[in-house]
Amino acid sequence: MAYTCPPSMLRTHILRRGVSRHIPIITARQCRHSHPLHTKNVTDGDISKLAAKALHPLTLADLVKHGRPPLSTPQLLTSANFTLSILPARLAHRIESLRNLPFIVVSNPHISKIHNNYIHSLSTLLPWAEREITNLEDEIKFTEVMADLVQTHSNTISILARGFLEARKYISPKDVTRFLDEHLRARIGTRLIAEQHLALHFSSQPHQEIMHEDSDGPSDFIGVIDTSLRPAKIVQQCDNIVGEICELKYGVRPHVVINGEPDYTFAHIPVHLEYIITELLKNAFRATVERGMEREAIEVTIAPLPEDSGSITGTGPSNITRGITNEDQGITDLASRSFTGKSSSTSPSSDETIRPLALSTPGVTIRIRDRGGGISPENYAHIWDYSFTTFNEDQVSDTLASGSGMDALSAFSGPGGDGQNSLAGLGYGLPLGRAYAEYFGGGIAVQSLWGWGTDVYLSLRGVGKMEEFEDRA
Ligand SMILES: Nc1ncnc2c1ncn2[C@@H]1O[C@H](COP(=O)(O)OP(=O)(O)OP(=O)(O)O)[C@@H](O)[C@H]1O
Ligand SMILES: [Mg+2]
Repeated sequence: MAYTCPPSMLRTHILRRGVSRHIPIITARQCRHSHPLHTKNVTDGDISKLAAKALHPLTLADLVKHGRPPLSTPQLLTSANFTLSILPARLAHRIESLRNLPFIVVSNPHISKIHNNYIHSLSTLLPWAEREITNLEDEIKFTEVMADLVQTHSNTISILARGFLEARKYISPKDVTRFLDEHLRARIGTRLIAEQHLALHFSSQPHQEIMHEDSDGPSDFIGVIDTSLRPAKIVQQCDNIVGEICELKYGVRPHVVINGEPDYTFAHIPVHLEYIITELLKNAFRATVERGMEREAIEVTIAPLPEDSGSITGTGPSNITRGITNEDQGITDLASRSFTGKSSSTSPSSDETIRPLALSTPGVTIRIRDRGGGISPENYAHIWDYSFTTFNEDQVSDTLASGSGMDALSAFSGPGGDGQNSLAGLGYGLPLGRAYAEYFGGGIAVQSLWGWGTDVYLSLRGVGKMEEFEDRA
């Protein structure tokens, strides 16, 4: 069982499939027993010094630059040192950002718990970051420590959601959305960097004895990236999971029809796609059933983007053709600044754009069409706000109290956390789904035909043609 979180339908499902194969399990407890943690007391000075460092956008090229697994020992050490060179500053930015929230908000026990988790992580990583990892023994210890840290942060979203719900008298919904949007985008990157090293570690030559499955032939994975990801397969898997939840709650489930090009494959991060599709299907299932339209299929169309679409700008319902901005990745510190009025000259300029790889595959648009009645005009203006939900508030409180929340697909890069047994709850599905989509230059657009149904367009860019990348590497 991966990590130490309680089991849930989704978690079990994810763990049975691709993701966990590449990250064999270290539990937090095992780590602590085998290697006592060396931590350093982090001072405010350490934090400000690190937080003053500019963050650079993360590219998918960064994630694949150490080569295709199995990695040699030198490649693996380079990956570990690269990871260590990036994480402390990113953690310090998160700490500063939390500290910049109004004091009464950050004093909330849930929010301060998250702040303390970041301090703990930074204290743990700093002693490692102060030297270079030069041998495998240290690399193993470092990886165990990092697996523990990744686990420590796995429930962040439900804890923050609870904190902000409790503190809602003291902070406006707009400010919560602004903070969470930046914070959770930044968190996607931080987790990705850590998880990429964990995944590479377990698929590298020196540690191959612990690889169990997948020994029959070369893997399509480079760490967390699947170079032959088939969106239709992910849709089917998410359909099964969401369908089970839907039947449990409502006793019925709509069926999903996949059309377009179901055989299309591209290179992307499966857990990100799983998270987004699960959230979009949950919304479509709920609307369809609540409107009594479960006999009408939910239609999912897989539409690969044309090869030359990378050069077109800003047309259509998605924004797939634009570059990636620092806002997409939550590294501008704009939200923190809005609370303090401080300006920050340390972040890279916000008009700096990047592309995943110079030679990127265009990617895919997935349209999810339901007959669930659409979204009313007054609600439509709020669907991207964190915490906006038409689910009733008592149910939301119950969801939080029971610790289930919206933490789908949490074993890995997903929001992280506990179980998942509800089709709706906190109003995080759309904004967080969009954060995942935009992180590497994709997008989500919602078009509602009020009184009829909803079309959601999810666009994702491919991460690049691996052969071409490898030729250049
Ligand atoms: N396909 C859809 N049809 C009708 N309404 C929708 C659809 N998708 C989203 N909505 C509306 O948008 C609101 C916000 O959606 P969002 O996914 O962010 O939160 P949620 O589903 O309420 O809770 P959760 O955090 O579990 O996703 C929903 O409560 C619902 O009113
Ligand atoms: Mg939802």
